[in-house]
Amino acid sequence: MKDGFLDKLISRLDRFSPSEVQNLVSRLVREKGFMENVFESLREGVLILDPEGVITFANSATNRLLGINTAKSIGQKVTAVIRGIDWQSLANPNRVVSRDMEVFYPENRFLNFYLAPINGQVRDTEEHLGYVMLIHDVTDSIKEREETIESEKLNALTFLAAGVAHEIGNPLNSLDIHLQLLNRKIRKNDELADDSKADLQNLLGTAQQEIRRLDNILKQFLNALRPQTLDREPTALHKVLKDTLETLEAELTEREVQVSLNLVDNLPILQLDSAQIQQAIYNIIRNAAQAVASKSGWISIESSFNDHEVVLSIRDNGSGISPEDMGALFEPYRTTKEAGTGLGLLIVRRILREHGGEIEIDSEAGEGTVVSLYFPRFEKRVRLLEEPDADKPLIDVETSK
Ligand SMILES: Nc1ncnc2c1ncn2[C@@H]1O[C@H](COP(=O)(O)OP(=O)(O)O)[C@@H](O)[C@H]1O
Ligand SMILES: [Mg+2]
Repeated sequence: MKDGFLDKLISRLDRFSPSEVQNLVSRLVREKGFMENVFESLREGVLILDPEGVITFANSATNRLLGINTAKSIGQKVTAVIRGIDWQSLANPNRVVSRDMEVFYPENRFLNFYLAPINGQVRDTEEHLGYVMLIHDVTDSIKEREETIESEKLNALTFLAAGVAHEIGNPLNSLDIHLQLLNRKIRKNDELADDSKADLQNLLGTAQQEIRRLDNILKQFLNALRPQTLDREPTALHKVLKDTLETLEAELTEREVQVSLNLVDNLPILQLDSAQIQQAIYNIIRNAAQAVASKSGWISIESSFNDHEVVLSIRDNGSGISPEDMGALFEPYRTTKEAGTGLGLLIVRRILREHGGEIEIDSEAGEGTVVSLYFPRFEKRVRLLEEPDADKPLIDVETSK
């Protein structure tokens, strides 16, 4: 439709014959239909509003993005349809605004909208006709941004932690050597009676054991935190699981926690870095063991698989996680334990992601927790996207009726 076409048409209406008017009207309707079809075919939401913010058109994408019932919304104020929008401060006939918003219905998404005035010539004077609001889904790019920030945080943290751990390693080493020297001196000291020698050596042995334990923790910590290239090999996940349970055995029996295994037969072999996966499973089972009550606590471990992935679920009947804590589970240093580091889950997720997998946590406060680890069965090189709906071409060009 050319600029001013309508104006000219109206001013000359009396000069047209009825058949010419009919012709023109049907052309107008066709052009309106064409524009509506174009709007309908857009993935962006399109709302057309009059100067007071009353909706005169809404395409179907607004339904998907905002849950707007397109038919019912026509004639309603935009403030009634998009609750929380501050129309007074946004609407300005001389200015274009672009803003982000978070919507919670029909699903939690981040949208960016762009509100532009429509100004046009009406009978030779410039008039403000209303607004067009274009709504664009930016959820994915915001998520990506968050993930980047998160991984930068983790990198900074890794650097710091590795430095500290390294600094602790040196005095530990020196302590170990000095205890060995002391041990030798005791052994060679003739002034000491045999039983007091044994006593002293016993004490020294305990101290040495504790130092080795610290050293071990430190090594594991560094191992898990350092960004590592994966050393993948065909691995039986059940074997890694059983090895992990062995290292936890002392702790589990001491607290009298029941562990039951429910493992499938013929679990496919996976390409895993078994040391890192062991670290991941260790962290999860340890969390479960710390969450359950001693004596009545149980942990149940289950495996399953389908064509695409292998799943290992660790379920416990422990304290569970409150909805408030759920949102911050993967934040570094977030811990509800007196001696916790708040790094365990973060490390687990990093290891899983490096393997192309994911971790999922499902929990109810007071009831217990299920942590599921998903491992892809095949390395993904290409991901075929779903074929678009064949009945619904992206642009509907069937307008010439
Ligand atoms: N199985 C579980 N049951 C209850 N709470 C859990 C469980 N696993 C993790 N959590 C919660 O998540 C927090 C973070 O866990 P994690 O990252 O391993 O750090 P840490 O164990 O050092 O606290 C824990 O402090 C705890 O509150
Ligand atoms: Mg932990």
